[in-house]
Amino acid sequence: MALREIRTKGDEILEKSCKEVIVFDKRLGILLDDMYDTMQRKDGVGLAAPQVGILKRVVVIDIGEGKIELVNPVLVASEGTQNGSEGCLSVPGVFGEVERPQKVTVEAYDRNGEKITVTGEDLLARALCHELEHLDGKLFLERVTKFLD
Ligand code: NI
Repeated sequence: MALREIRTKGDEILEKSCKEVIVFDKRLGILLDDMYDTMQRKDGVGLAAPQVGILKRVVVIDIGEGKIELVNPVLVASEGTQNGSEGCLSVPGVFGEVERPQKVTVEAYDRNGEKITVTGEDLLARALCHELEHLDGKLFLERVTKFLD
C-alpha cells in the first residue's frame, strides 16, 4: 500500500469524465487500497480516483462506519433534500453549503466484480453524491449556495 498525491483544483484531470472499469484485477485492488490509505491520512470521508490522477470510475468512502468501495457506481434512486456543509480534499480549506438528496441508492461493483447496492442517508448520501460527481469531472464548488468561513 502507498499514499498517492492528491490533485487539487486547477488540475485538468479533475474536470474529465472517467472510464468504466472493465478488468477487475490486482491493480484495481491496489488502487482501492492506496486511495483508502490516502483518504484516511488526509482525514477525508471520501475519495474518487481522478483525485489521485486516475481516470477510472472508482470511489472509496468511509464516514466512520466502515469502508465502502465502489467500482462503476451509478445513482439509481434519491429522495428528499438536505442542506449542509461540504468540503473536498482537492479544494483544501474551502467549505460551502450544498443541497443534496437526503437518501440515495447506488448500484456498483466491488473489487471482485460482484454487484453491490449501497443505500445511504444524511452524511453518507452526501458523500455518495459528492464522490460520484467527481467521476464526471464535477467539483462541489459549482453547487455551493453559500461559502463558509
Ligand atoms: Ni471531493
